[in-house]
Formats: sequence, C-alpha cells, structure tokens
Amino acid sequence: MNISMRIVPKKIERYCRDNTTPESPVLRELVDETYAKTAFPQMQVGHLEGAFLRMLIRLIGAKRVLELGTFTGYSSLVMAEALPEDGKLITCDIDQQVTEIAKKYWSLSPHAKKIELKLGHALETLKTIEGPFDMVFIDADKGNYVNYWESCVPKTCSSGLLVADNVLWGGGVLDPEDETDRAILEFNRHVYNDERVEVVMLPIRDGLTLAWKF
Ligand SMILES: C[S@@+](CC[C@H](N)C(=O)[O-])C[C@H]1O[C@@H](n2cnc3c(N)ncnc32)[C@H](O)[C@@H]1O
Repeated sequence: MNISMRIVPKKIERYCRDNTTPESPVLRELVDETYAKTAFPQMQVGHLEGAFLRMLIRLIGAKRVLELGTFTGYSSLVMAEALPEDGKLITCDIDQQVTEIAKKYWSLSPHAKKIELKLGHALETLKTIEGPFDMVFIDADKGNYVNYWESCVPKTCSSGLLVADNVLWGGGVLDPEDETDRAILEFNRHVYNDERVEVVMLPIRDGLTLAWKF
C-alpha cells in the first residue's frame, strides 16, 4: 500500500491547518531541517496532528508522558510545550543520527528540560521504564505496535490515554497487501477487543487512535 495516499483531501487539511494555532518558531525550524536532511520527513506528525497532541496533553492535564518514536523530535517538543513546568516526557528511539537533530532543536526551546531521550530498541527500553504515565504516544516501528501496546497499557494510569499514530496506514488496512498493512490491521483489532480501554479512531492525517484506560 502506498503510504503517501492521503486520507483527508489536501485542501481540507490545509484549511484545518490554517485555522489551527501556528507552530512555535522552533518547531518551524525543526520541520525545515527535517525536510532538508532526512529521507522520510513526512514521518513527523507535523502542524495539525502536533497541535492536536498538544491539546490532548492540556485537556487531560498530563504531567508524565511516554513516547515511542522520537525521530527529529517534533512530537516530543510539541507535547512538551503543553506540559507543566514539572512535567516530564520520556521519548524512545533507536536511531542516534536523527535524534541528534531532535536534541539540537529541543535545546533551543525553554521546554527542553522536560524531555528525556532513551536510545535503543523501544521494546528493550520499555523494560527499564516504570509508569504510571498519563499519556502514551505510540509512533515507532509498526510491526511492534501490538508488543508496544501490551507493554504500555499497564504503564498507563487509570483515566490515562494511549494514542497510536498511522492506524490507517494510507488506507492499507482496508485491503492489506504487505506485512505492515497486516501489522496495523492486527493492532487495530487488538485495541478494539481490549476491554481495558474505550477507543475512538480518528481520520487525522494517517489515522490516530485514542484509547482511554478505565
Ligand atoms: C514515524 S517516526 C516518529 C516520528 C515522530 N513521532 C515525529 O513526530 O517526528 C518513527 C521512529 O521510530 C523509530 N524506530 C523504528 N524502530 C524502532 C525501534 N525498534 N525502537 C525504537 N524506535 C524505533 C525510527 O528510528 C523513527 O525515528
């Protein structure tokens, strides 16, 4: 499945973006460098989804956040912007090179002190991280989404939120052709059948699942 396939028409998405609070200047610069220096810059959540994540942090009053999939640090920083002064976001990635860009831009933000990066395979890192977290954002390798889910649900507090990105995988879930299509399809069924959570799947960007833990 072509993951660049758009779920929401381009013009509608642009209109939504244009009516969303602008990105901070640091986030804008981070986007520019990501597009200039990385092969798949569209992996970052970007303005609209980023603003939505930041809004979720504010709405649930999150203080402790866990993220799987840092990349160049956009989603980490946009979420950190909404955390209180004593808030904390732990973010996990396996790629040292891309996270150097993340560190560079975080350091230009007053919110950098809230972010801690953990390098390594997220499944290994998760064994060393203790909850509870108010919100978990899953956005690392898609083949491990079910494993990440099973590791993260117990680390999420009651009334906390788990959020998973790319749950539509460019529409690949409707007519699965490859391994990643099937992995996301399996993940979506797994979450839907999990009685520990209440779920809503939204067609934001490439699909975003929100799961509220009872
Ligand atoms: C979609 S990107 C994350 C985008 C990021 N949330 C943002 O908005 O900029 C996925 C990231 O997962 C990382 N990743 C892939 N496999 C991983 C693994 N096994 N453990 C940890 N991170 C992994 C990749 O290096 C990549 O940076």
